[in-house]
Amino acid sequence: MSDRILTVRVARIARETPDILSFELTHPQGRPLPDHAAGAHIDVHLPGGFVRQYSLARASVQGTRSYLIGVKRETQGRGGSASMHARVREGDLLPVSAPRNNFPLRREAAHHLLLAGGIGLTPMLAMAQSLRAQGGSFTLCVFARSREHLAFAASLGDPALRPFVRLHIDEGKVDERIDLHALLAAQAPGTHAYLCGPTGFMAAVRDAAAASRWPEEQMHAEYFAAPAESAPLAGRPFALRLTQRGIDVPVAADQSAVDALRAIGIDVPVSCEQGLCGTCVVEGEGQAAEHRDFCLTGAQRQHKVALCCSRAKGDALAIAL
Ligand code: FES
Repeated sequence: MSDRILTVRVARIARETPDILSFELTHPQGRPLPDHAAGAHIDVHLPGGFVRQYSLARASVQGTRSYLIGVKRETQGRGGSASMHARVREGDLLPVSAPRNNFPLRREAAHHLLLAGGIGLTPMLAMAQSLRAQGGSFTLCVFARSREHLAFAASLGDPALRPFVRLHIDEGKVDERIDLHALLAAQAPGTHAYLCGPTGFMAAVRDAAAASRWPEEQMHAEYFAAPAESAPLAGRPFALRLTQRGIDVPVAADQSAVDALRAIGIDVPVSCEQGLCGTCVVEGEGQAAEHRDFCLTGAQRQHKVALCCSRAKGDALAIAL
């Protein structure tokens, strides 16, 4: 997790949909909070010992008086969202990390296509607000089952954003679903697409992108959970070469690099331990790695490695530790 921990007060809890609550978090003494770029998230330390990452749903346009997060109650989850819904009340104090951003807007994009499924709207809303404030070119496509399941409806209806928002509400009908392939194929060259949402939505967009030959470096994704088909942690044993220390650390077949380092007293900061958040990423010999993360771009993978999940392709992997 991030080394910098702040304490925030839960200033307001609002029901967004039957299964999503929004939480507005402020400094306990009313001071400004650390600024962040759109796409950032914070780690929230929850009652029950859970630590969960939540995207910030509001851009830091003119200073940051509060953080806004949305939490969907996951019935099949690991307990974090249930704890947030059942145990956190207005007025409570919560430890959170300073904002971190693995999902930034790309300056080089000629147009930004923001694709938000369900609760995946949270980082996209901050991106849309930020782009609107900067005069950037963007479209925010929001996919929801029904109007009842549309979170942050008031923000989407803001007159400043409304002209850039496309709502896709399918009411669960297959024939009402948008043709993602056609949507992507209609974009101008130089468009960057950003996607965030449930795993089925992410897979559908990825499939459409592959069918449209969408350039990989122009597609950016923020996952809430590792896709079901992701590779298991285990693999072949290998040597983790620590170039700054000049030692090799053996990583067993059923061990992660983080665990192997921990066993010899080297603590690497971690948060999600699923390859999602980027906390454990270090510089390293990326081309020698079997990357199993969901947070690094193709270019970053040339020289970075997420230690919680990635392994060596061969017998050894050198990292800058
Ligand atoms: S701890 Fe989150 S990517 Fe490794």
